[in-house]
Amino acid sequence: ALVIKSECIDVKDGACTTVCPVDCIYEGGRMFYIHPDECIECGVCESVCPVDAIRFEDEVKSDDSLFVAVNREAFSLE
Ligand code: F3S
Repeated sequence: ALVIKSECIDVKDGACTTVCPVDCIYEGGRMFYIHPDECIECGVCESVCPVDAIRFEDEVKSDDSLFVAVNREAFSLE
């Protein structure tokens, strides 16, 4: 799955949601989250985010690694 990182916080541009072909990106409190089981890993959202907040899970840098769990936990997934 792809993951939304800290750059989205309080920005919430929303461009990612308009291009996602499976509508797996959901608005949370201060950011948006990608549902990891619904994401088909097409990567379209990564290229449209104006603040570069989205990465493929296996390309998330260690500083941002907690956001892999943050996206999962937003949907109450372990
Ligand atoms: Fe956030 Fe970027 Fe989407 S700022 S809402 S991840 S386009």
